[in-house]
Amino acid sequence: MRQVLEDASGALLALEVDPATDADAEIARAAGLVVVREVLQLRRPLPLDRVSGIRSRPFVAGSDEQAFLRVNNLAFAWHPDQSNLSLAELTARMAEPWFSPEGFLLHEDHGTVNGFCWTKIHPATDDGPAIGEIYVIGVDPSAHGRGLGTEMVLAGLDHLASRTIGVAMLHVEADNHAALAIYDRLGFHRHSSHQWWAIPGSPVPSARTAASTTDTETTP
Ligand SMILES: CC(C)(COP(=O)(O)OP(=O)(O)OC[C@H]1O[C@@H](n2cnc3c(N)ncnc32)[C@H](O)[C@@H]1OP(=O)(O)O)[C@@H](O)C(=O)NCCC(=O)NCCS
Repeated sequence: MRQVLEDASGALLALEVDPATDADAEIARAAGLVVVREVLQLRRPLPLDRVSGIRSRPFVAGSDEQAFLRVNNLAFAWHPDQSNLSLAELTARMAEPWFSPEGFLLHEDHGTVNGFCWTKIHPATDDGPAIGEIYVIGVDPSAHGRGLGTEMVLAGLDHLASRTIGVAMLHVEADNHAALAIYDRLGFHRHSSHQWWAIPGSPVPSARTAASTTDTETTP
């Protein structure tokens, strides 16, 4: 996929490429653009030789929404797409056909949700097997650095493996060093890169800021 993102006035926000190639980089650099956002897709085979050592439970629709939103909006306050998530946006995602509360795991500390791992299963296609995604993972910042993030990723991977999924996948900002430390330790490797190129000093683009897109090329 290669597309131009524009704001409401038609001004260039970014050139978006996924998967990014060396040829894309060459064209963008020649036009004076720099990478303003990069999201890596990482993958690893399942199962792992290690399981989660903490207790987690499935999300309960109609009861856990606010507890999830509290942790999500604290953990992702800095994130271009996932910050400031509203109840309406959460409800819309829960109405998607892939949504399964069994794959949306919460961790509680003394009755308060302080971590979650939300997974998504992409069914098998003619081109490949089913893939299990660590869709969103977050920990209350007051609990960071104590191993909870690692355990929640493991809980999500355990769930996916229990559904006989053989490949795990996730997306992570290329400068999210804390998350990358976990994924690296758990044996994830780089599969592809999704990049946004823009004029130096441009704001970081997100799915929420682009008013329109123009496809310059679509690859399968
Ligand atoms: C990513 C996140 C879930 C990690 O949660 P956590 O409970 O702190 O995770 P852990 O304690 O298991 O591990 C954190 C690791 O990151 C490392 N780390 C933390 N800050 C870091 C930094 N700035 N640079 C490099 N490594 C860092 C820690 O040293 C630790 O690695 P180690 O165990 O090898 O020492 C948490 O930071 C979070 O919620 N972030 C916001 C949401 C997010 O980014 N989600 C991931 C999206 S892909």
